[in-house]
Amino acid sequence: MNKIILNVDTGVDDAMAMILLKRNGITPEFIVAQSGNSSLENTYRNTVGIADILDLDCPVYPGSYTPIVKPEFYEEFHGKNGLACYKFPDAPLKDTENGIIKMYEALKHGKYHVLSTSPLTSLALALRLDSEIRKNITEVTIMGGAFKKTQWGTGNMGDAEFNIFYDPEAARIIFDLDLKETIIPLDLTMKPELALKQILTVKDKGSVGDFVEKATEFMLEKHGSYELHDPIAAYSIIDPGAFKFINGKIDVDSGGVTTIKENVESHQRIAIDIDPGAFRNEILGTIYH
Ligand code: BDR
Ligand code: CA
Repeated sequence: MNKIILNVDTGVDDAMAMILLKRNGITPEFIVAQSGNSSLENTYRNTVGIADILDLDCPVYPGSYTPIVKPEFYEEFHGKNGLACYKFPDAPLKDTENGIIKMYEALKHGKYHVLSTSPLTSLALALRLDSEIRKNITEVTIMGGAFKKTQWGTGNMGDAEFNIFYDPEAARIIFDLDLKETIIPLDLTMKPELALKQILTVKDKGSVGDFVEKATEFMLEKHGSYELHDPIAAYSIIDPGAFKFINGKIDVDSGGVTTIKENVESHQRIAIDIDPGAFRNEILGTIYH
């Protein structure tokens, strides 16, 4: 497996994705936290806090603080601080060098798989510094988009999906490069059988277990059901064979609405289904173990 750069906007499900990766033995080379689910200040602190309780041996850098063109805005879907109001006031904020520059420097000198469970702002800005670095991106895996390829792929921000809606210009920069891309859209992650509807027993009683239990409770109380968008995207790196994909050329409009044109030459694919056993045993079994 190639070395991974993780781009997040932590976010309850971003945190669960970090847990899933760690428990599958995957430590990113570094993590870039950017604004999205909440302000950069919050998502950065949230990411450092999760990395800290996971004992992740990798730096966490702050990335972009607003979308490229749109003004700053937050949905507070994951609560006021973006993390189910779960706070890490004592997490050490040590790696404060700029994450966009760090991505650029890493991709200038080495090959990486980029996993993005956030808007695409930081990655797009790194690629705008030097288009040559695209050659060193072996693959990009993106949680994002809603393509109307299943009955639930209809959007969670009107017809758009949040990560793409937040920064459509960044998404356009990435999609237009036609890198090798795997997209995990709402068409898959909103499938009703994949949502949590009730609290699962968390066996780990340590600090990670405490976070998982409280954050899940918060999401269920606030929304009635809880979708694991970002862990599903992370799992597609661990076991791509568990997914069903369709290939095509992806487009995005200025409102963040995504479409895929099938049967044309492209390096892009979107996931539209997952083996239910893999979801239950590997994703849920790992996070709630
Ligand atoms: C995406 O938006 C965020 O709220 C989640 O963390 C996920 O990345 C789902 O639309
Ligand atoms: Ca996210």
